[in-house]
Amino acid sequence: ASRPLIDGFGRRISYVRLSVTDRCDFRCTYCMPSDMTFLPKADILTLEELALVAEAFIARGVTRLRLTGGEPLVRRDMLDLVQRLGRHVGSGLDELTLTTNGSQLARFAEPLFRAGVRRVNVSLDTLDPARFTAITRRGQLAPVLDGIAAAKAAGLAVKINMVALKGLNEDEIEAMLAWCAREGHALTLIETMPLGQIEEDRTDRYLPLSEIRRRLETRFTLTPLTQRTGGPARYLRIEETGQTLGLITPLTHNFCESCNRVRVTATGTLFMCLGQEDRLDLRDLLRQHGPAALDAALDRAMQLKPKGHDFVIERREAAPAVARHMSMTGG
Ligand code: GTP
Ligand code: 5AD
Ligand code: SF4
Repeated sequence: ASRPLIDGFGRRISYVRLSVTDRCDFRCTYCMPSDMTFLPKADILTLEELALVAEAFIARGVTRLRLTGGEPLVRRDMLDLVQRLGRHVGSGLDELTLTTNGSQLARFAEPLFRAGVRRVNVSLDTLDPARFTAITRRGQLAPVLDGIAAAKAAGLAVKINMVALKGLNEDEIEAMLAWCAREGHALTLIETMPLGQIEEDRTDRYLPLSEIRRRLETRFTLTPLTQRTGGPARYLRIEETGQTLGLITPLTHNFCESCNRVRVTATGTLFMCLGQEDRLDLRDLLRQHGPAALDAALDRAMQLKPKGHDFVIERREAAPAVARHMSMTGG
């Protein structure tokens, strides 16, 4: 693009995560309280507004767009948005992706592929049905596994995101690796991040991935891969299986210096960092001044991007670093 978005630390912003809804059909314990209240519809961007925001970024050289939620596929008429944005793939966008809990994927996999999506990230913390329901509070495992199978059958590459939870799924990491190897999915493990007030004490569930890595090293030969994909994950190759394993370790290893991304909530607030409050409201600007006002706002926003987050998990009684839930910013 002629006028790329460069922040105050010289980082080029080429990746946007756009949350299309704060709603979700699950209530994962690390993500939401069980009695989560969702936002009124008037606060949420319309599909047209979501598309205009995405297109303002595309016009400024953003090449990768990830749609998130909440759960993006519970938003009504979601496919219309994917189809509209899919038209930018190949001219502007290099890729259009989704992060989903998979519950609706069986239905949407084929139309997503037809609209230009080639890759989806699916959150899956366990392969045990009872555990799955315990972690998601109201999810069922079987439809998610069907959704993942449908995605693969439709030609979508699948990356599984597994949040590592102490005492909940840590004993399943090798089983998940083996399942992913068999099914041909990539796997990324994620450290639980202190976002939003939830009932559970996250300190009790926090599992440093450095520890998982040490455990895996007693069984496998792990080779660190130097290639960075512009995302937060660091990758290892498991020599015995040929698999690539991603580790997202915001707490034990910070990756902010190479950050290329910003996120937009379903209410149109542009957050400059997952772990900070620096923000700019695009919704009222768009509603009052029209889409032409977005371009200059993006330039202003670049000056707001902080150097990095400062997540800490150690302080037991402390409030979360950031008050909003993960479902608000979509990760
Ligand atoms: P790709 O690299 O495009 O496959 O996606 P991703 O792994 O960045 O995205 P995904 O939606 O699968 O998110 C995986 C996890 O990474 C989620 O828990 C996100 O919250 C986390 N994550 C994504 N971006 C950032 C970031 O900038 N900072 C931090 N701390 N975490 C992030
Ligand atoms: N910490 C880390 N990851 C989280 N996710 C949701 N809440 C948290 C949290 N508190 C993950 C989901 C999904 C991704 C978008 O974010 O499992 O894979
Ligand atoms: Fe929904 Fe994802 Fe949050 Fe779970 S982690 S409640 S699936 S948004």
